[in-house]
Amino acid sequence: MTATGQEGHGRGPRGGTAPLRVDGERLLGRLAELAGVGATPDGGCARLALSDADRAGRDLVVGWMTALGLEVRVDEIGNVVASTPGVGAPVMMGSHIDTVTTGGRFDGNLGVLGGLEVIETLQDSGVTPPRPLAVAFFTDEEGSRFSPDMLGSLAYVGGIGVAEALAITDVGGASVGGELRRIGYAGPHPCPGPVPHAYVELHIEQGPVLEAEGVEIGVVEGVQGISWQEVRVEGQANHAGTTPMGMRHDAGYAAGAIATFVRRLALELGSPQVGTVGSLALEPGLVNVVARSARLTVDLRNTDELRLAEAERRLAAFLEQLARDEGVGVATRRLARFAPVAFDPGVIDLVERIARAQGRSTMRLPAGAGHDAQMLARVCPAGMIFVPSAGGISHSPLERTEPDALVAGANVLLEVVLALAAGELAAGAGGAGPAAGAAAGA
Ligand code: GLV
Ligand code: MN
Ligand code: MN
Repeated sequence: MTATGQEGHGRGPRGGTAPLRVDGERLLGRLAELAGVGATPDGGCARLALSDADRAGRDLVVGWMTALGLEVRVDEIGNVVASTPGVGAPVMMGSHIDTVTTGGRFDGNLGVLGGLEVIETLQDSGVTPPRPLAVAFFTDEEGSRFSPDMLGSLAYVGGIGVAEALAITDVGGASVGGELRRIGYAGPHPCPGPVPHAYVELHIEQGPVLEAEGVEIGVVEGVQGISWQEVRVEGQANHAGTTPMGMRHDAGYAAGAIATFVRRLALELGSPQVGTVGSLALEPGLVNVVARSARLTVDLRNTDELRLAEAERRLAAFLEQLARDEGVGVATRRLARFAPVAFDPGVIDLVERIARAQGRSTMRLPAGAGHDAQMLARVCPAGMIFVPSAGGISHSPLERTEPDALVAGANVLLEVVLALAAGELAAGAGGAGPAAGAAAGA
């Protein structure tokens, strides 16, 4: 095993030197309990950022953190960081506990509760790593209520000013700052927050690759670039029966054309380009009225920054042409823009080495979803550990990962964290990866 022998082995029930392993039942129990907060009848979870359900989930996790005797700090943007005592910058674990409204039980939660489990396992076995450990959950990772996504971790690393972040509003006009105060999570600690020694995030893959390849642990090399835009189309409402087809300024048609174009664009650019119109609303939204206006979102992602920028350019050209052809107004607003991020080569190697030493099959892959780790990678060596998602399904109540796989991921996290705390990176590559600094602002 890679962690130094003394730190990496527990006393064991009979004083032996069996490798340390997390308490799987305890981890699964906490995952189930947290999934009960904001549970939906279809087996999923809805804890939209800074909602009442998010507050209840936060309270539950903070209670667990406090019960472990950790120092719990809430910062100005509502990020919660719980640390063990000790000197020096901590090795930080974490993720998020907010969900999309059709969320599952594991996205984000696994990284937070896996981190908590690592800390409790070490406490139980009397192992004190050479530097402190921390587990964090970051505010509004999902970005489905307040854009951009990864808002809390972006603010934590200074990628967005606190005042700007607090002023962001949801579609109903509620602000991040107001909602933080309402749910009691406008904390006193300043953002940007203290820079960790390193950051490791355990997460479900949320895609089909690991399962399809029959691989147990994904060694995440980086995160693809993300471009989110809101598109507003202004047409003219008119009678659906009397208005000749050539005399329409139809926002509904324009919205449909944009969705079709986004699909075609992704297919033309080829994998790994993806494109999604995930939200679309028409006004007035009546069966017999040509739509006056449309509001839709476009999500474009690619691991290659140049290809992603090309996709954006082609979309912009299409929107201009569409506005002319249909005689409608088209305006766009940027919701999020993050360049692809490469994780630290030393952390990547460590995850791979430890997973293999634990007898796990591994493969390297990029992350398709956005993650808090991509923000932490701007300030410290960062990496991620993936476990398979059944059927590649996520952001859905059907999201599922086998219990053994969840526990296997936490055991890899445990030893990676111990190795990092023992100074493993100092001898290796260390430092933020070359692309980390290339990550664009929101
Ligand atoms: C957020 O996590 C996203 O990838 O959409
Ligand atoms: Mn997530
Ligand atoms: Mn998610």
